[in-house]
Amino acid sequence: MPDSAPRSLAGLLASSRTALAEAGIADAALEARLIVEHYSETGRSEAISTPGRIIGDAAVVRIEQALKRRISGEPVYRILGFREFYGLHLGLSDETLEPRPDTETLVDALLPHVRATVAKGEGACRILDLGTGTGAIALALLSEVERATAVGVDVSDDALRTARRNAEALGLGSRFTPLKSDWFANISGKFHVIASNPPYIPTNDLAGLQAEVRNFDPARALDGGADGLDAYRVMAAEADRFLAPAGVVGVEIGYTQKHAVRQLFEAAGYRTAEARQDIAGHDRVLVFHR
Ligand SMILES: C[S@@+](CC[C@H](N)C(=O)[O-])C[C@H]1O[C@@H](n2cnc3c(N)ncnc32)[C@H](O)[C@@H]1O
Repeated sequence: MPDSAPRSLAGLLASSRTALAEAGIADAALEARLIVEHYSETGRSEAISTPGRIIGDAAVVRIEQALKRRISGEPVYRILGFREFYGLHLGLSDETLEPRPDTETLVDALLPHVRATVAKGEGACRILDLGTGTGAIALALLSEVERATAVGVDVSDDALRTARRNAEALGLGSRFTPLKSDWFANISGKFHVIASNPPYIPTNDLAGLQAEVRNFDPARALDGGADGLDAYRVMAAEADRFLAPAGVVGVEIGYTQKHAVRQLFEAAGYRTAEARQDIAGHDRVLVFHR
């Protein structure tokens, strides 16, 4: 761990990396960089061009505190209070899931549908993001397509406040509406794209999750009921009333759930438009249409 201030940027990067590696953190180099750059308000270019730059005492103390928290098991993005998703800087809070790179697969799968809706000249594409959390999926789609609007639904007031703050910070506030609703309960109108990364972990599996997930991501964002499929059942049964003609429903799934989720939607009259895997090669996304 860094000892005394003042310290050089390169020295802090090296000592932080060593401290994390010695504590068994797998991505020690990356996480040391995230922590040091964040609190020293530097970036990659300074690390290369001015490695001898002296970092002030206050920043060194904050770096030391962050390293302690990381070594005691808190995920690095929780400590920093934000995570990048689809190139967007998203603030986190107690009741928001940390958005994961896997979920970018859902954004990639839905983006062509958002663009196609706009290209058809039907006006703005209307998106419904069920279980919006930080707003990750909706805000990523809005950031890519100017003529799109989104309603981001959650049951958590804290998540809705965070999603609104993120939307405003990204200049997307005028096109994003946070709405408190138990799935479709308070929704009205029709949407061209219904997107969701719902809770999908079977309740009995929660205790076996990695401590970093179990202890720091909110249970409400993870617990998908006895078989992990509760939210998909609601969506398969109710999405139709809120889907514009030619609209699509795109969901993230757990990597063992492709067959079960397809069955639920196909039994409700949908056809599978696309099944996608994430970059690790796991089944991750299903897109359905009528
Ligand atoms: C897996 S997280 C996904 C968050 C975000 N969309 C993402 O991908 O990073 C699921 C979200 O669904 C919300 N949620 C859980 N039950 C819900 C319900 N009955 N109605 C609406 N949202 C719900 C949780 O609060 C949580 O924000």
